[in-house]
Amino acid sequence: MALLEITGLSKAFGGLRAINGLDIYVDEGEVVSVIGPNGAGKTTFFNLVTGMETPDEGSIVFDGQELVGLRPNQILQLGMARTFQNVRLFPAMTVLENVMVGQHARTRAGLLGAIFKTPSQRREEREIEERSKEVLSFFGTRLAGYRHDQLSMVLSYANRRRLEIARAMATSPRLLLLDEPTAGMNPRETIELTELIGRLRSERAYTIVLIEHDMQVVRNVSDRVVVLDHGVKLTEGSYDEISTNENVIEAYLGRPAEMGA
Ligand SMILES: Nc1ncnc2c1ncn2[C@@H]1O[C@H](COP(=O)(O)OP(=O)(O)O)[C@@H](O)[C@H]1O
Ligand SMILES: [Mg+2]
Repeated sequence: MALLEITGLSKAFGGLRAINGLDIYVDEGEVVSVIGPNGAGKTTFFNLVTGMETPDEGSIVFDGQELVGLRPNQILQLGMARTFQNVRLFPAMTVLENVMVGQHARTRAGLLGAIFKTPSQRREEREIEERSKEVLSFFGTRLAGYRHDQLSMVLSYANRRRLEIARAMATSPRLLLLDEPTAGMNPRETIELTELIGRLRSERAYTIVLIEHDMQVVRNVSDRVVVLDHGVKLTEGSYDEISTNENVIEAYLGRPAEMGA
């Protein structure tokens, strides 16, 4: 059975069918890219999988367990983490604190325990700090030691995006959902992030679903590509298969129109 098995997923906002009868599976260890024009329903798909939106219909089974009806923090605890299309960090917290805060939802002590500390909670806090530093070390010099105490708002844009990935990694998820991780990055940063996504799989054994608009990134990291358009799956397959599919080309470029004189 697939790690993530989605069937008949639908979600409407008013009259708009953002997701419409979607079937998607993700096998353990795969990197699957979800692509499609603006408004295709990609982010809504992530919101449904992570419990931030409730589907009108359909089933989302993760590691054999039905997720529909669970709250976002319950889904997080089952081993799923995401990043957002627009960076969502705590600007007035340090780099290290931003990574640590993602894990408090998972600890017994919880967020309140992080404020009113008992000895056992202090131990838990130290473990969280160690794990957070270990995760930050994955990013090499980009988020190295001297940066741990800097406020996240002083980081470069690319580093803030890296920090978001670090925060998602810190909860030790099996499935990582990345929403346009290279958006707004320059070509060099994009290449670096592409390599990082490869390392997330090869060194950390994550299963990854990636929403991505940069086709070079999609080509380089994907085992499989799912193409969405108007909330439905247009096609899926290898990069070579989907990039030569006429329906896909049409969804991106529009129907050929007759050019006036
Ligand atoms: N909370 C919401 N309320 C109303 N409409 C929404 C909401 N979220 C998304 N939509 C609409 O659903 C469609 C799909 O949006 P989205 O999933 O963000 O697309 P994508 O990420 O592929 O660009 C868009 O038309 C968007 O305006
Ligand atoms: Mg989106």
